[in-house]
Amino acid sequence: MGNSFFKEIIYSSSNEDSESELKALRINANDVILCITGSGARSLDLLVDSPKKIVSIDFNETQNFLLELKKAAFKVLNHEELIKFLGIDSSKDRLQVYTRLQPHLSENAIAFWSKNLNYIHQGVLYCGKWERILKALLRLSSFRKRTIKKLINASTIEEQKNIWNNKWDNIIWKMFLKVISNRFLWINIIREPGAKLIPKNFDVYAYMKRLIEYLANNFLIKENHYANLLFNGSYLNSCILPHHLRKENFELIKNNIDKIEIVTGSLLDYLSAHKNEFSAFSVSDFSSYAPEELYHSIWKNILYASAEHAKFCERMFLVKKNPEKRFKEIKRNSELEEKLFLEDETAIYTFCVGTIIKNPTLCP
Ligand SMILES: C[S@@+](CC[C@H](N)C(=O)[O-])C[C@H]1O[C@@H](n2cnc3c(N)ncnc32)[C@H](O)[C@@H]1O
Repeated sequence: MGNSFFKEIIYSSSNEDSESELKALRINANDVILCITGSGARSLDLLVDSPKKIVSIDFNETQNFLLELKKAAFKVLNHEELIKFLGIDSSKDRLQVYTRLQPHLSENAIAFWSKNLNYIHQGVLYCGKWERILKALLRLSSFRKRTIKKLINASTIEEQKNIWNNKWDNIIWKMFLKVISNRFLWINIIREPGAKLIPKNFDVYAYMKRLIEYLANNFLIKENHYANLLFNGSYLNSCILPHHLRKENFELIKNNIDKIEIVTGSLLDYLSAHKNEFSAFSVSDFSSYAPEELYHSIWKNILYASAEHAKFCERMFLVKKNPEKRFKEIKRNSELEEKLFLEDETAIYTFCVGTIIKNPTLCP
């Protein structure tokens, strides 16, 4: 998608719960995975299960520069330094730390970061356009900051539900959600190219209202990293961080870090040149940016690049697709999809999960 929107970092933290990909892909030491980069969080999270290799691809080169930087940080720093460098804990010397990471970056990444040292100074975790939009929305809600504080301090689901239903979920919240679910805003003001692909009859407001309500009634906001971004704009001390940022996973990810190969390019082109290479695909949520025909062409190329019995996990946000209707090789696991939908702590995605069977006679 040739669009100026993709010339800057859009995603920098994580707006997904990779536990779902880990459950769906059941990664083993032989797996060669194709993963979309985005913030880089998912590619790093998947290292927890020690695959053989991950190819992390994005057509937005700046997302890949961010992943290069995160990779370098894992190589050079210890966990405490990493958490400070990224921006979770405070630090005054991020620019000095950056000079230690530079030898591990490509020339293009160095050129990019040298023009964006302010992001490094502030901590890159919250530099994405999406993270900045969430902070701006929180500023607009600042007149409700006492209720927000109560929500993020609630220590049981019961207490949180009570605050949500009696204090938060009122006409102001509904109007606010109506405004931010408005297509005109996303298409013409924010210029998010994916907004044009949301079917006209899809009620964004009703969908978001139902699922954010589900989140608030089932997951503790103070611990949930996605809810932390929504209601605090950054991770609180009480937050259970994305897998790759947790202290207990640090050494494992550090040891596995070179298993990630970063590729800048389109899924369509890359897959067409890698026949039978991948045993797993973590491809959320490219349907947001692919018109109908492109979406199916990408899936056709996923099948081409897939080894027999490859596993896949595609997250879908506001653009829902059924690729199995076009390609008989795609065998979806609807039971697991439903389970992931209910358990995923970001709550806003549905799943397309299963196995690719190219030759049915080889079925176990
Ligand atoms: C919707 S975002 C998902 C971000 C993710 N939720 C996260 O937390 O990082 C998808 C990412 O895929 C990239 N992308 C979308 N379609 C693509 C394609 N056809 N080829 C390569 N990259 C693509 C976008 O640039 C974006 O960084």
